[in-house]
Amino acid sequence: MLNSESILKLKTNGFIKVQKFLSDSELEKIQKICQYRCKSKGNKEGFFSHNFKSFLVKILKLNFKKFNDDLRIFKITKEKKLSYIGQNFFGKTVEINNIDGYISPKGNTVILPWHTDRAYTDKHGDKNIKNFLHPDDCNLKIFIYLTNVGPGNGCMSYIPKSHEIGYHIRKGIFTKKLQYSPYWSLKQFREFLKIKKNFDYITTSSDDKNLIDSFMKISENLKDAGESEFDYEANPGDAIIFSEGGIHRGSTPTKNDRLVLRYFYKPQKQSYTVFE
Ligand SMILES: [Fe+2]
Repeated sequence: MLNSESILKLKTNGFIKVQKFLSDSELEKIQKICQYRCKSKGNKEGFFSHNFKSFLVKILKLNFKKFNDDLRIFKITKEKKLSYIGQNFFGKTVEINNIDGYISPKGNTVILPWHTDRAYTDKHGDKNIKNFLHPDDCNLKIFIYLTNVGPGNGCMSYIPKSHEIGYHIRKGIFTKKLQYSPYWSLKQFREFLKIKKNFDYITTSSDDKNLIDSFMKISENLKDAGESEFDYEANPGDAIIFSEGGIHRGSTPTKNDRLVLRYFYKPQKQSYTVFE
């Protein structure tokens, strides 16, 4: 599905946009299922079976319509070779750990401000963290748009190469080389990088010695609302594939409701990097 050039782009920038990820006939069928099943984010109807157990539950409940719809949604993983993409992105064996879809209604509220996932906390930074995650415990997300999105209208925008900074932050905290302080929001992330010890550790760990400096420059004036230079147009059936460990946002769906279908992949535990 993705050629080696596209995989390289995904690894370098942390994301890639794929036009016509679904064919017209695939799109029609998938849209129909998602329009019927997907509600607001987190609603359980919008979760599709992604393993043997969840399919079995639907059979045992004699829920054949849901079973068949889930099967069609699941088939995309094979048709589009999603685990191959995940495997090549991480350089590790991967597993699927979620498939869901949801609607973000048209309005004035940003879907999610600039942030990184795998940061334990919300924008208040007030969670008491007991366990720090292994840096490989992080998803590659395949986001298929089922409605139109555009600049300042529901597109998932991404700051290139920020996934690499995110990885080094998580690694530094996990290996106790760095002290945790909140880094969920863009503002917190930037504050975290301004701490000299953090800056030095990440710069030493990365091959790109300009990584933080260029990130600081391009992220300096970003606002959560409105358009940004990282926004783009996408049509139903297009996809954006990205590491959740980089800085991204869901812009406000100002013109229409946004419907997306998502697949999550992450490295299998036994393939996590072992640190000394
Ligand atoms: Fe996110």
